[in-house]
Amino acid sequence: MKHKTIEISYTECDSIEELTIDDAMLVNEARDASKNGWAPYSDFHVGAAVILENGKIIKGNNQENAAYPSGLCAERVALFSANANYPDSPIVSIAISAYNKNGLTTQSIKPCGACRQAILESETRFGKSIRLILDGSEEITIIDGIGHLLPLSFGKESL
Ligand code: THU
Repeated sequence: MKHKTIEISYTECDSIEELTIDDAMLVNEARDASKNGWAPYSDFHVGAAVILENGKIIKGNNQENAAYPSGLCAERVALFSANANYPDSPIVSIAISAYNKNGLTTQSIKPCGACRQAILESETRFGKSIRLILDGSEEITIIDGIGHLLPLSFGKESL
């Protein structure tokens, strides 16, 4: 029997001012996308913006449904739209923002498990890791690749 440890790493910033111009621009796109989130049930509006290798920016937001499980998270709306419309262009980064009744979340928003799995698929599809920029008004977390958020994952090599 062997005990093993997996280490993850990430970068934390205190505000959008600490980001590069490109990252700040993508976060602003995610903030903008969150405004159109359809979230009448949770009142939690999430926006995601992905930038592709070809320079295109694709936005998405959460789409809730009266039949709750039929809704979809912002990340997957953006990712699937990007992969559907630009099947040959890898995704470079994804920014995620969310606001509730108090405004933009103070802590950085973390993608749910299903979205982590979908991000992994997009990384695998193009053989390139995707940077995650998780937005919050007092904390922005930057993660170099979904491996840090989804270690010991189920992927194509598991089949
Ligand atoms: N949501 C997202 O869009 N992304 C996440 O990473 C977490 C949760 C949405 C789903 C639902 O519409 C609302 O936030 C509350 O869970």
